[in-house]
Amino acid sequence: MAQSVQIVSSAKNAVAFDALRSVSANSPVAVRGIVQQKKSKNAKQKEEGEAEDTLELDLVDIYPLNSFPKDLIMTPETVFPPEQRYLQLRSDSQLRDALRFRAQVQSLCRAELQASTPGFVEIETPLLFKSTPEGAREFLVPTRRRGLAYALPQSPQQYKQILMASGIPRYFQFARCFRDEDLRADRQPEFTQLDMEMSFATGEDVMRTIEGVIRRLWTTLMPDPVPAGPFRRMPYQEAMARYGSDKPDTRYGMEISQIDHLLPADLVSKITSLPVSDNPVVEVFKVESHDNDPAATLEFVRGFFDSSAGGPFNQNPEGAPGIFIYDAKKPLCGLQPLGFEAAERIEDMLEPDHGDLLVLQARRRAPFAGEGATVIGDLRRALHSAAVAAGRAPAPSGFDFLWVVDFPLFSPESAVEPGQGGRAGIRATHHPFTAPKTAADVDLLLTDPTAATADHYDLVVNGVELGGGSRRIHDAVVQEFIFRDILQMPSARLDDFAHLLDALRAGCPPHAGLALGFDRLVAVMLGRDSVRDVIAFPKTGRGEDALVKAPSMMTSEALRTYNLRLD
Ligand code: AMO
Repeated sequence: MAQSVQIVSSAKNAVAFDALRSVSANSPVAVRGIVQQKKSKNAKQKEEGEAEDTLELDLVDIYPLNSFPKDLIMTPETVFPPEQRYLQLRSDSQLRDALRFRAQVQSLCRAELQASTPGFVEIETPLLFKSTPEGAREFLVPTRRRGLAYALPQSPQQYKQILMASGIPRYFQFARCFRDEDLRADRQPEFTQLDMEMSFATGEDVMRTIEGVIRRLWTTLMPDPVPAGPFRRMPYQEAMARYGSDKPDTRYGMEISQIDHLLPADLVSKITSLPVSDNPVVEVFKVESHDNDPAATLEFVRGFFDSSAGGPFNQNPEGAPGIFIYDAKKPLCGLQPLGFEAAERIEDMLEPDHGDLLVLQARRRAPFAGEGATVIGDLRRALHSAAVAAGRAPAPSGFDFLWVVDFPLFSPESAVEPGQGGRAGIRATHHPFTAPKTAADVDLLLTDPTAATADHYDLVVNGVELGGGSRRIHDAVVQEFIFRDILQMPSARLDDFAHLLDALRAGCPPHAGLALGFDRLVAVMLGRDSVRDVIAFPKTGRGEDALVKAPSMMTSEALRTYNLRLD
């Protein structure tokens, strides 16, 4: 809490009075004076309910320590550019409060983990690490030794597993992680994880431990505690089918149902350019209208698809969404293009009311293979946000935690994530150290690795992936088999993992762990949309620190020092 005290001075002490008057607002000062009981507030102030400060300072001397520029305007409402983050922090008490709150969350996490039995040990792992194909794109740190570079860790994953092989039973760390990836509101190139690992443990032990941390945080710092009992589990395939997302916001309905089996082929061909012979999937969700007014729904939906949030959905190569407004005054209630039979069955399935919106979307028929969302899932999310913004749906409240489990162990190679650089055309869905879930999944490694399920769990709340973890492969033979035979990593890249394989070979016990995105956790608790609001010095959307102007151009001298040459 910011403390303020009023200074009173009168012309009786002319020197101090003049000095006080000459100090510009927001300047730091040292003052000497007599603390005294404040005179009673006038009736108007009392009526307006102004906070009652009981003490004031009767000024004796005032010494300016620096001065605030007179041409700068700073009010609680002023928004400063990122170059002046210090002014934003100074003027915006919410931002300062968020940093204080963040520190409290950190202390509580620490206390909860240290109090468990046996206690977790907080251990720092190196930031100057080496380049290994763990999954995300890395930042390199050149050295003065010709051709040698460190890499900043994308996470302390390998060090924490090596700690398990080192006889540390339980580890945690508030770990800085670095990833050179496309940025969004919930992503920074440099971010913090609450990273943990437990030996002689399974995923169940980890999930229980993390639930304890979340419960402690919510009980201590939030208005409502998290309901008792273990968090719900939802298999990845189910999350994708029902919500079109592997991190669904489960607080509002708008669940997705598959309906292609109900639709006539000629209708399917109208809503997708995919060949009907390929039997595309068609899915639907309903957006309730609270005013039961089809004309208002039409206006809303037109506005949405004309906006930057909605427009791109019409460019989907698998077909634009099919929009139907349920209207009791129209033939087949506005569902006529679906044909009588399909309209009736869809009505039975979704039970729409007058004015409700039905959104259909086609996609290629293929099992969900590790992707994070489908187009209809993104559309559900975007339409819901637009409906809330337009006052057509209530803003969802509360926190609905769930574990999304049973992800595929491997996914097809992606254009965005570098993966492990293997030749097999697949990559580890999360990272290549994740254990297959069951003995049957281990067997699948030999026959159909893409069908194997991972012993991985993501903690999801309100549409945010708060954390992810897994039981690890602790057997060097299995780990090497995955690197070499499944991912088909070239032997040079495999050598990059020699340290980990050696540590596993040295009798590493079974272990499992998880990392919570700490910035995301704090942002979720404070109801902020962007992690930037809970980070003192965040990077901009372009990954730059506008305040210090980083990254900066390397001078020719620096290039020479690091034996580098620009093309
Ligand atoms: P993962 O890559 O899922 O797992 O990261 C864990 C959590 O970190 C947060 N996160 C981010 N937060 C801000 N900016 C980013 N760029 C960013 N990337 C990820 C997310 C995510 O759930 N080593 C594994 C963990 C483990 O298996 O133990 C890992 O890093 O909230």
